[in-house]
Amino acid sequence: TGCVTLDEGYVNTGSTISAVTFLDGEKGILRYRGYPIEQIAAECDFVETCYLLIYGKLPNEQECTEFRESIRQHTMIHEDMRSFYNGFPKDAHPMAILSSVVGALSTFYQDSLDPHDDRQVEISIHRLLAKLPTIAAYSYKKSSGQPFMYPQNQLSYCENFLRMMFALPTQDYEPDPVFVEALNLLLICHADHEQNCSTSTVRMVGSSNANLFASISAGICALWGPLHGGANEACIKMLQTIADDNCDVKKYVAMAKDKQDGFRLMGFGHRVYKNFDPRATIIKKACDKLLAKLNIDDPLFAVAQQLEKVALEDEYFIERKLYPNVDFYSGIIYRAMGLPTQMFTVMFAIGRLPGWIAHWVEMHQSPTNRIGRPRQIYNGPAVRDIVPMDQR
Ligand code: CMC
Repeated sequence: TGCVTLDEGYVNTGSTISAVTFLDGEKGILRYRGYPIEQIAAECDFVETCYLLIYGKLPNEQECTEFRESIRQHTMIHEDMRSFYNGFPKDAHPMAILSSVVGALSTFYQDSLDPHDDRQVEISIHRLLAKLPTIAAYSYKKSSGQPFMYPQNQLSYCENFLRMMFALPTQDYEPDPVFVEALNLLLICHADHEQNCSTSTVRMVGSSNANLFASISAGICALWGPLHGGANEACIKMLQTIADDNCDVKKYVAMAKDKQDGFRLMGFGHRVYKNFDPRATIIKKACDKLLAKLNIDDPLFAVAQQLEKVALEDEYFIERKLYPNVDFYSGIIYRAMGLPTQMFTVMFAIGRLPGWIAHWVEMHQSPTNRIGRPRQIYNGPAVRDIVPMDQR
């Protein structure tokens, strides 16, 4: 119809001009604001990475201190919000809780909803970065029936999160520095990935001038699906199924190739990366190091390595350029930390938050920003007349 071009799944359509993240799928390159992901993973922590993505430059010492300090001030959630958790079933998926509670932040900060009020947007950004780990940890505490642990602001971002997850009023928890380092690394690797499904959702919702909390809540919902962030949970479940099935890796590779079957190798393949996913390379190395350091022998790691080997030697995967992606090994690290499988995608959300925010802010700062409104090619019935009920 007319000049509408069809591009299902936006394979070749640029939706925006962006200065946040550079990605070259053929060469396996990922850069945040120009800095290679490998350097950021080696030199920065997650909070610094948040600053970089959102403000477009690395913070100097004073900026970094002030930023950390501001985030620390906002880590608690309103006491009334705690009662929301009572309304959810015990087995509610934490991603559902996360998106609901984040959306509900807009009911508590009603003065901060105007996307063009820079001061209020700034406060909302700090609130979100500070509160998401608290909201996430509370969703786990709810599911395990344990009391909520308040944040402790002398701790670092990652230490605080791990403590809120695993401490009890009767027994404090001192996070292992090896876990803290690994968590920083995982969050950094997930922090942005240009116009993926959830980020495009955040931009789309924000383009109607919906507030930041509502936009991020929508992004969390988009991330939940197993083809996107939910792949890390699906991947670990798949590895467990294979392990329980005599580690018969070849059987599952065959199933993934069978188009009638519908089964896909979770944690494999990517829309943009057609050579390797640089995040997967970093995470696999970290996974290897962490398991060796802690002397953990996780049978799922062996299954994952075997699966990767068999798939990468298979013509089907070679032809289609399917490689392990960021979600393939991340779950093994989260398991080692003691995180339950249902929390894996929540961890992805905590990591991706600064990316979502950076894109939302960039969109609102752009002078050419317009509401997102794709067209379609209609293939329904041509015009027809309504037949009275007794004649249908
Ligand atoms: N297992 C088996 N076959 C696959 C897989 C897989 N994991 N991924 C793609 N293929 C096949 C697909 O069937 C198609 O084959 P054919 O050309 O014969 O029809 C071909 O490879 C191209 O796949 P596609 O579905 O057209 O590719 P896409 O760009 O639309 O989808 C993807 C990308 C990531 C959704 C897909 O590779 C997939 O479903 N992977 C498994 C889920 C996953 O790991 N997702 C996490 C992605 S990375 C983190 C994130 O973005 O959140």
